[in-house]
Amino acid sequence: MQLRQLVRGTLDWARLEQVAQALAERYDRQEMRVEFMNADNWLSTPMVVDDDLFVKVISRQNTLVHVLFTTGRNLGAFTAGTEGFFEGYQNPYEMARHELHATERMRELGVSAPAPIEAFEVDGLGVLVLEYLPEYESLGQLSERDATQQAPQLFSALRTLHDEGLAHGDLRGENVLIHQGGLYFIDATNVAADARDDARAYDVASALASLSPLIGPAQSVEAALIYYSIAELLEARRFLDFVAIRPDYDFAAATLKGEIEKRAADPDAPVGW
Ligand SMILES: Nc1ncnc2c1ncn2[C@@H]1O[C@H](COP(=O)(O)OP(=O)(O)O)[C@@H](O)[C@H]1O
Ligand SMILES: [Mg+2]
Repeated sequence: MQLRQLVRGTLDWARLEQVAQALAERYDRQEMRVEFMNADNWLSTPMVVDDDLFVKVISRQNTLVHVLFTTGRNLGAFTAGTEGFFEGYQNPYEMARHELHATERMRELGVSAPAPIEAFEVDGLGVLVLEYLPEYESLGQLSERDATQQAPQLFSALRTLHDEGLAHGDLRGENVLIHQGGLYFIDATNVAADARDDARAYDVASALASLSPLIGPAQSVEAALIYYSIAELLEARRFLDFVAIRPDYDFAAATLKGEIEKRAADPDAPVGW
């Protein structure tokens, strides 16, 4: 079997039908419409049920990929001079339940996220059910103007999580959705309660890296400085090279680091937002 096939681990229809059956019973749907998202996804099979439920089906293979990614990211953390701080999950139901709880926790803190509904298990598959957001743009898709408008919200939401000891762990353009003008954090698979300072610095680095191609490195740093101190941005700076290696980010790490250094050299300059 080719590695690609192994890691993507497409689920066979029989198993997906079992999930659909379970959903029809649990939500008392006689006729149910299931649409698969055309996302080519490594970590789950996402689907939309009757335009009101967003369902993520997590297989054993998805959890293995998660462990693999986690190991890779922990190695990356080592290169940034810190111990690994990402947790892996062995079991699909555990992974679904973790995301459900993390989503609940974020909402309790006032950070917007799709309403969590439930997590359950069908034949070894983890199933996570969330409110479906019918219309949104991901942060990565925003125009410069819209991204500029959202940038402070991004750091404000992150600050809220961080002040409560949480970290998101996988902040990037496609995991932040803009729905009805508000910013929603999704994909809370890696959200950690009692996260270490390193995990928070990594979040800030990821947020800067996601915003930078949209609004430029200088503006990204100014937006971050509304909620984070220059000392915190210097911590985040350590992770920028590591974030830059990841294929889902496309930003100029050197320029961004230069902007942070420039700011650090003049700590009393007012925040230019
Ligand atoms: N509640 C939701 N409503 C509508 N679309 C969503 C919702 N949550 C996620 N999506 C879309 O589905 C994609 C995959 O979801 P995500 O939670 O990121 O899964 P994965 O862990 O597999 O990356 C997202 O990038 C987003 O486009
Ligand atoms: Mg995702």
